[in-house]
Amino acid sequence: MKEMKFSIGFDKRDLPKLHNYWNKIIESQKWTESYFTALFEKKWNIYNNLHSVAFGSWSGGALAAMRYFQLVGQTVLCPSNTFMATPLAIVNSGAKVQFVDCNKTDLCMSYDDFKIKAEKYHPAAVWVVHIGGHIAFDIEKIAEYCKKNNIILLEDCAHAHGASWNGKRPGEWGDAGVYSFYPTKTISTGEGGMLVSIHKELIEFAKRFRNYGKPDYKVSGLNLRISEFSAAIGVVEVDRLSEIVEYKNEYAQKLDSKFKNRLILPKGMISGYYKYIVFEEIEKSTGKVYDNPCHRIMKHDVDLPNTDWVAKNHWCVPIYYNK
Ligand SMILES: Cc1ncc(COP(=O)(O)O)c(C=O)c1O
Repeated sequence: MKEMKFSIGFDKRDLPKLHNYWNKIIESQKWTESYFTALFEKKWNIYNNLHSVAFGSWSGGALAAMRYFQLVGQTVLCPSNTFMATPLAIVNSGAKVQFVDCNKTDLCMSYDDFKIKAEKYHPAAVWVVHIGGHIAFDIEKIAEYCKKNNIILLEDCAHAHGASWNGKRPGEWGDAGVYSFYPTKTISTGEGGMLVSIHKELIEFAKRFRNYGKPDYKVSGLNLRISEFSAAIGVVEVDRLSEIVEYKNEYAQKLDSKFKNRLILPKGMISGYYKYIVFEEIEKSTGKVYDNPCHRIMKHDVDLPNTDWVAKNHWCVPIYYNK
């Protein structure tokens, strides 16, 4: 297999357009909270079918959602097979984290273990993480349980740009979803995040939360804004997203004939292929999605056998957009 160097998913054909946008920003004298932030949000709203608020990172969107749902002192369930960002957002917003096991098939939260933990801890909320660019296979069952039992469902969509399941996009199952535009992601703005939700009041809260509660200071926020320069990259990137995902899907199809022992998607699911995951050791790999589960890093005394198995037994084949 041809070795592929890591490559940010930015199409060089977009450079003149981006330079033109940046010139406009410089001339406008409006370098934050202006035209391109609003345009990025509008485009994401159309792509994702949900109200959208842009942030300077995933963290900003996650904190806004957790603050809005008033989770201080409450228990929030979280998969252990995720980046430390997810449990750290929980503890830094004043809530308590309890870890849930994953499935070996999709590396995402297991419904069976979620149900056990929900009955044991009576959580106020749960974070489901769509690991690797596909949608968590158990999302429908988890969403249904949350609805019946009044549990807030939050989706960590940091990996899931471009994914869908029978036309439904990440963030559409839950009360809120949050994307990351960190440079390794399928599309990036350098630093950035996007909070999506069906709840209009959450969106209004989040816009104030990212900006110190302006204009009336009724919301106790901080500076979690995205700059206009980053938002302009976002505008260019949303327009390229479907092409990038198509390219990755075609590339994945070629890899499918080579790797039999791989993650298999259910019918109707399209992955954004943030990662191409196999369950065999391979010669050229970008390594693991995560090597060290969060419950081990945070020293939680809980037995999560599938999470430990996954940490040892999966590898990622390079799959980068390179145009
Ligand atoms: C699953 C997951 N959640 C959250 C984040 C945090 O995103 P950010 O760096 O934009 O805050 C990441 C980032 O790498 C991630 O992989």
